[in-house]
Amino acid sequence: MLPRVIVYNAVSLDGRIDWFTPDVGLFYELAATWQEDATLAGSETLLTAEDQTAPEEELAEAPEPQPDDQRPLLVVVDSRARVRHWDYWKRQPYWRGVIVLCSRATPAEYLRLLQEHRIPCIVAGDDHVSLRPALEELNAHYGVQTVRVDSGGTLNGALLRAGLVDEVSVLLHPVLVGGTSPRSFYRAPDLTSAQGLISLKLIHQERLENDVLWLRYQVVKPSEGA
Ligand SMILES: NC(=O)c1ccc[n+]([C@@H]2O[C@H](COP(=O)([O-])OP(=O)(O)OC[C@H]3O[C@@H](n4cnc5c(N)ncnc54)[C@H](OP(=O)(O)O)[C@@H]3O)[C@@H](O)[C@H]2O)c1
Repeated sequence: MLPRVIVYNAVSLDGRIDWFTPDVGLFYELAATWQEDATLAGSETLLTAEDQTAPEEELAEAPEPQPDDQRPLLVVVDSRARVRHWDYWKRQPYWRGVIVLCSRATPAEYLRLLQEHRIPCIVAGDDHVSLRPALEELNAHYGVQTVRVDSGGTLNGALLRAGLVDEVSVLLHPVLVGGTSPRSFYRAPDLTSAQGLISLKLIHQERLENDVLWLRYQVVKPSEGA
């Protein structure tokens, strides 16, 4: 079975995720809405966020996972073996554990590194991670029922194009960025037909501080009709 997948981003009015400074406190306060079992992140998002200079001795001890631990798992898509600073991520207090999604193209050396860190790895797909079976395995083996995607446009794009997203939620900031670089929260090859459009149904709207709008949309699956 597939878990329920929510894509959630802080965006400008033109759908971009760069240049402006989102209200991060508000972003994560609202992120708690979904009580996700797993936070799914792209490798680029992790590399952007991690403090690679943090000395080992200054990192807090990872809180021991408890049997009734309610914190989500951190699940990272990283078939290219890019994220290396696993001590840093394992010691973040927001997650009870880490799982990495790899493909058959992931170097064996990286799988060994994950093993040394005692990080479970799901291998799915030949080149990139095949997201559908990876999500099914998260559900079957780790009981993951709800996934909140905390990522940029690339992973969002792969999930959306694969029809794996149930909800798209944005914190719409009152700012326009402009530009021609592909830094929107949904990056994917241009459509070749309108059949690729994803229809949405507005399920929640709320005006928050500083004219930020919170919009939640249910993805209308093709079988449900537009
Ligand atoms: N504003 C917000 O709400 C928000 C939230 C989170 C992040 N961000 C920002 O977003 C930026 C990063 O975004 P990004 O779009 O560059 O990168 P990203 O989405 O974080 O990372 C790209 C991910 O997509 C995976 N991928 C690419 N094509 C795929 C495919 N066909 N099938 C399966 N997986 C695929 C890659 O996997 P491999 O590693 O296996 O190649 C990689 O893990 C950062 O600057 C971050 O700060 C903004």
